[in-house]
Amino acid sequence: MDIGIDKMAFATTNYYLDLVDLAKARKVDPNKYLIGIGQSKQAVVPASQDVVTIGAAAAEKLLTPALKKEITSVLVATESGIDNSKAVATYIQHLLGLSAFVRVAEIKQACYGGTAALMMARGLVAANPQEKVLVIASDIARYGLNTPGEVTQGAGAVAMIVSSHPHVLKLGQTSVAYSRDIMDFWRPLYSENAMVDGHYSTQVFIDFFKNCFSHYQQQTGCQLADFSAILTHLPFTKMATKGLNGLLGERQDEVATTLRQSLKASQVYSRIVGNLYTGSLYLGLLSYLENGQPKSGELIGLFSYGSGAAGEFFTARLVDGYQDYINDVRTDLAKRQQVSVSQYEKMFKQQLGLQNADVTFDISHDHSRFVLTGQKNHQRQYQRR
Ligand code: CAA
Repeated sequence: MDIGIDKMAFATTNYYLDLVDLAKARKVDPNKYLIGIGQSKQAVVPASQDVVTIGAAAAEKLLTPALKKEITSVLVATESGIDNSKAVATYIQHLLGLSAFVRVAEIKQACYGGTAALMMARGLVAANPQEKVLVIASDIARYGLNTPGEVTQGAGAVAMIVSSHPHVLKLGQTSVAYSRDIMDFWRPLYSENAMVDGHYSTQVFIDFFKNCFSHYQQQTGCQLADFSAILTHLPFTKMATKGLNGLLGERQDEVATTLRQSLKASQVYSRIVGNLYTGSLYLGLLSYLENGQPKSGELIGLFSYGSGAAGEFFTARLVDGYQDYINDVRTDLAKRQQVSVSQYEKMFKQQLGLQNADVTFDISHDHSRFVLTGQKNHQRQYQRR
């Protein structure tokens, strides 16, 4: 039985910040952001959006009325959770109008959570081929104003249907997972912003990538030449480039050229959206499918990394006709509105965060289908339009 990704869609907020503007405001050479980090824009999150509304928006793009009735489980991966008990998936199930007869849960292991959810979905489908699992990786990457990580912020969600009749990718049998207790990135319960040892996290990512890939090679005998693309976690584009260079070394042959070109195509959207933590590998995949030169049947390698730390290298084969089962990300991103640095800073400070007071947000400027209207009696209030 083939198990894999049947449909994919991406959603982000309606606003973005140009990082040249941010560089000027922070008195940094813009080329540090554009070339050194490899980012040119980042999604900006208004107070009326959070991981629930963005995740629901991504899922809504791929659901038809018939498919809504067929969903059996909703797994939401996030490290921007809004509650220590209640799962984001419960809110999304309600907002999407899914049946009550579904399994809902939230998965967490930093940026690896989306892949953990995908692997769990695969297990559910293997146990029962009738299962159709809605996997959503939804996050807001938030490091704080005037911090080194600020340039690598971003937000968005990728939704996927995992089934036994995949129209986008068939997952390979062998994967290699690797985990160690490492303090490279974490967010204590009392903090709205992530804490990170950025340089250390980049080094750990590269080490995990090499370890997983070489173990995969030992198990399967696969060579780099067998892949048309090897895509990785994308917190900022430079990190993925460093990761692939770690595998390729000094190689400049045809194989290395193909893999570098494929990675470049996978970075197009992340460069203008920023980090979406759990969803970043999958936005990279969509970007490769829409901006690269993928061919049906080709083998794609995917390396997922989540600080703390967990990594997994797995593979998938591209299904003929996949184009009809992914959403047009480029067109969606072209509709976003640019904001100034002061507008971004205002929105950043307006986020609900850890405050416990009742609050009502002005949603008149937010035309998204799903909005967070505020908080009442310690309960987040959502609206579907
Ligand atoms: N022109 C061109 N390049 C320039 C430049 C200029 N004027 N000035 C500097 N650069 C280059 C530097 O040479 C450097 O390049 P290399 O990395 O190739 O050496 C690059 O720009 C960055 O410069 P710095 O290292 O000096 O930048 P920094 O100290 O300000 O920090 C950062 C950069 C570590 C990425 C920081 O932005 C950060 O901490 N970001 C968040 C951490 C992060 O995303 N980590 C990723 C893994 S964790 C993760 O993904 C999350 C998860 O699992 C939950």
